[in-house]
Amino acid sequence: MRPATAAALLGLLLLPARPLAADGAEVWRRKCAGCHGADGSGGPRRLAPIGGPEIQAKTDAQLFEVVAQGITAPERRMPAFRGKLADAEISAAIAWLRTLKR
Ligand code: HEC
Repeated sequence: MRPATAAALLGLLLLPARPLAADGAEVWRRKCAGCHGADGSGGPRRLAPIGGPEIQAKTDAQLFEVVAQGITAPERRMPAFRGKLADAEISAAIAWLRTLKR
């Protein structure tokens, strides 16, 4: 094997392994931050802050259902994520939004 090939193979081995567990911060950035803001503070539409007491008082199971089913009230619509995200991705996003608790 030529040294360059060996170096390339070593580089591949050293690449960080793709995490198996869903990455909540990544899910948030990709699917949620557009409406809620990167830091969950409410974005341009001034939604309720995700770190605020009203949302943080809810259980993980309650938040999971909201994210899975979405919100259909006309003035505060949120898409349903069941079928768009794996359950593990929804759970990871919820675990991440707990880190915003104020
Ligand atoms: C198209 C815009 C939009 C996207 C995308 C979106 N949301 Fe929402 N979300 C909303 C709106 C609107 C509300 C209602 C907020 C309000 O009343 O101020 C809401 C409310 C919530 C709440 C509070 C629920 C409650 O019971 O009070 C949580 C938690 C939440 N979103 C999580 C998420 C997560 C996690 C994602 C990404 C997987 C996400 N949202 C993506 C628009 C969005």
